[in-house]
Amino acid sequence: MEKTKKRNGFASGVGFILAAAGSAVGLGNLWSFPYKTSANGGAAFVLMYVISVLVIGTVVMTAEIYLGKRAQANPVTAYKKAKKKLGWLGLFAVIIPLFILCYYSILGGYTVKFTLNSFNRNSEILSSFTGNIPEVILYTAIFLVLALVVVMAGVKNGIEKVSKILMPALFIILVLIAVYCLCLGEGVSEGLNYYLNPDFGALGFEGILAAMSQAFFSLSLGMGIIVSYGSYTGNETKVGKSVVMICTFDTLVALLAGLAIFPAIYHYKAVYGSELSDHGIMLLFSSLPLVFDNLGWVGQMVSFLFFGMVVIAALTSVISLLEVVTQFVIQKFRAHRKHAILYVSLITFAVSIPVSISLGFALTAPSGTTPAMQICGQNWLDFFDMVTNSVLMPLCAFGSCVAIGWCIGKPAKRTDAFNPAFLKNALEQDGLSLGKFGMMFAVMVKYVTPILIALVEIFGVIDIIFPKNASGTRIFSADGLGIVLTAYALFAIAIAVYFIFFKNSYTGCNADEHGFTEAVQDEAYKTEGEV
Ligand code: PHE
Repeated sequence: MEKTKKRNGFASGVGFILAAAGSAVGLGNLWSFPYKTSANGGAAFVLMYVISVLVIGTVVMTAEIYLGKRAQANPVTAYKKAKKKLGWLGLFAVIIPLFILCYYSILGGYTVKFTLNSFNRNSEILSSFTGNIPEVILYTAIFLVLALVVVMAGVKNGIEKVSKILMPALFIILVLIAVYCLCLGEGVSEGLNYYLNPDFGALGFEGILAAMSQAFFSLSLGMGIIVSYGSYTGNETKVGKSVVMICTFDTLVALLAGLAIFPAIYHYKAVYGSELSDHGIMLLFSSLPLVFDNLGWVGQMVSFLFFGMVVIAALTSVISLLEVVTQFVIQKFRAHRKHAILYVSLITFAVSIPVSISLGFALTAPSGTTPAMQICGQNWLDFFDMVTNSVLMPLCAFGSCVAIGWCIGKPAKRTDAFNPAFLKNALEQDGLSLGKFGMMFAVMVKYVTPILIALVEIFGVIDIIFPKNASGTRIFSADGLGIVLTAYALFAIAIAVYFIFFKNSYTGCNADEHGFTEAVQDEAYKTEGEV
């Protein structure tokens, strides 16, 4: 059979690794990891996080890269090729990124504003900026256009080229900033102590769950991204080696971020005596600007570099989110890349407008009052975030384990279906060989990892429906129930849409992108995909 004239995808294994790392390294590393670490027992949490990356992260990532690689197609076709009845997972994996895009892009816009405003007292602008909706929308648009230009240029000429420059740049900037912050003197050791002092008592069951769910979000698993990027890899990419590199890079960035952040805010505390909020939006856009503004011109330079680095982290993540949705639109609807990305960006932009208004209300409401425009007691950003991260992503990652762990190979006897050794051989024949880790992977992906993911899902949902009150007792929350029901309703809609519209129709593959067709090999695949 003839080979494809031009393969649509990454030109090199390194390009793929850096692009996937670009997706993985994002706000999750820079603002939630350090905070979760300090809140859940410091080094004890770090240890648990590393274990979670090993037992969940590496396994799901291997499964997802391979799902994409073997199908050379968007997530819908990829899950469908593993098992036709599972194709809805792929649809799901296209919808989740669309939701995430609608709030992540706004935060990206914030980071652009704070970078450009670094020499002009960032610490004073949070409420005036976030309350100024036209300005927020303008910066969201600027940020989206940056991402759009890259995705429009394609996988090899856009995403790969940009990642190869930006990811090393991000790492160098982060190391420089961490060194600077560690040399601030006063307060540094208190900060390090707060961040890393191991306290296994403070870790507890909840800390363990937090570490596991942080691993999903941080590695961009359970949302089609890794499947999509994996589909653009060919023989030059070794799955196992890539997984190790991506996970190591992502974890290293998260750890380093904490080494920069905590010494900085404890330095401020030591010098000025006031406590600063150390998580989420407040950490990034209020506490750190205050620290930088009080360190003179060097602080302003550091601020510029720091926010520039956050822009890079958020941009490469948004690029990956856009690519998943765009890939599906290109392949299912035979759209040109530039049209597809325009549609996707326009939808994102339109939805991000109400999200930014709601967020603006939440950040500027006088304390004690309930901000306007909330859904289920949350601003739209938190609402979207909880629906996707706490409920939908683990479900999708669970599906990735099922697709690889239970659907590859045709067992001759019933017992084969349960036997990891059979799976190991089936995967090897299918094209995934992991050397001496093959057997271990088979056991993990079939049994251990899905069980752990199910725990994350169950306890995540319980935590939303029965949140803890100030005294630590759990009480029922109707708003929480609303969030969970919305997520499951979305889930049901995706399943219905798949079975009605997509199950029996051709859902496209990478060779369908304009400029990459003409391959007999892919014609053969098309028929296969239609079965
Ligand atoms: N992994 C990214 C982070 O750590 C977040 C992300 C989520 C990126 C979803 C893309 C998609 O922040």
